[in-house]
Amino acid sequence: MKTSATAELAPVETAALVRAVSRAPSVHNSQPWRLRVRGADVDLVECVDVALPWHDPEGRDRLLSCGAALANLQLAARALCREIATSFPLSGEVTATVHTRPGGAPAAEDLARCRAIGRRRSYRRDFAPGRVRDEVLVELLGAAGEPAVHALAPAKVDVLAQMLGFATRVFRSDAAYQRELDIWTAHTFGRYALGAVDGVPEAAFGDGPLPAAGLVRRTTPVPDDLRLAEQLAAETLVLFCTADDTRRAHLAVGAALERVWLEATVHGLAGSVLTQPLHLTGFREHLAERLGLPGLPQAVFRCGRPVSAAPASPRLPLGDLLFPDGSSRPE
Ligand SMILES: Cc1cc2nc3c(=O)[nH]c(=O)nc-3n(C[C@H](O)[C@H](O)[C@H](O)COP(=O)(O)O)c2cc1C
Repeated sequence: MKTSATAELAPVETAALVRAVSRAPSVHNSQPWRLRVRGADVDLVECVDVALPWHDPEGRDRLLSCGAALANLQLAARALCREIATSFPLSGEVTATVHTRPGGAPAAEDLARCRAIGRRRSYRRDFAPGRVRDEVLVELLGAAGEPAVHALAPAKVDVLAQMLGFATRVFRSDAAYQRELDIWTAHTFGRYALGAVDGVPEAAFGDGPLPAAGLVRRTTPVPDDLRLAEQLAAETLVLFCTADDTRRAHLAVGAALERVWLEATVHGLAGSVLTQPLHLTGFREHLAERLGLPGLPQAVFRCGRPVSAAPASPRLPLGDLLFPDGSSRPE
């Protein structure tokens, strides 16, 4: 794409983009992304050194997280009245480049989703009674906006409950998994919480989290399958599936997930995402077969009406997210 000098991103515009990316959801709040601004183009760089060998052995969630950051970057660029085009290098640390140039006013729905970026939070508690209306669910599914991603509301929640219950029991008693989770959570508790810049804070786990709502820890209660199925049936679930496991597919899922989440936020809904069980060997293939899914499930999103406000999770200082001009490393 050709850009003129006057089309370059001004520092104040760059700051808006960095802020939007910083608020994206990420696996264990690891924020595995950095930005490199080159004139009017912005590279989204994946931090491959952020490794979660027990939760995310293949780095799939890291790419999903970058996809979520990409969706925020695109929305924020549009909100700055920029036209955008996005290219996807096939390999290397740059996952995507957003090419921008001055354009017209953003579409109203993009602006609404962009404004929801700062309000979106992981909500891992029970929801208020009452289902999300069908017409709202249609809008949520429509927000995904990625042709390669099937976003669907799963049938057979009893099967899902059975399988999530199984995964919960496995993760609860996996000492190595629990040690890794401790590393990403312990420093966010009590008096340490104030200085934390990443990880999942204790308050964000909710008061008595059921396994379907979040991350399974050693102490997470394991309800019987029937109770879990009742809980799932009362919630609105969205499954994100793709035909394959390519890097491009993972980025697309992350972007679709974030758009659906932001659209839910626009509607006053809250939610959380679940990938933990999908990392058990053979789990996704088995789930796809038993639910008759159109591809491999990559993430589960649950949403509903919140009963209380979810706490904000910490973030890295914004300056840490940006490569200084001409440098290949952040400051
Ligand atoms: C790819 C991906 C996987 C995630 N997996 C889980 C999960 O299995 N369980 C969970 O409770 N939260 C999960 N999360 C949510 C993150 O923990 C959350 O986004 C992060 O802690 C930041 O908090 P926030 O969403 O409130 O900004 C996931 C998020 C992403 C993007």
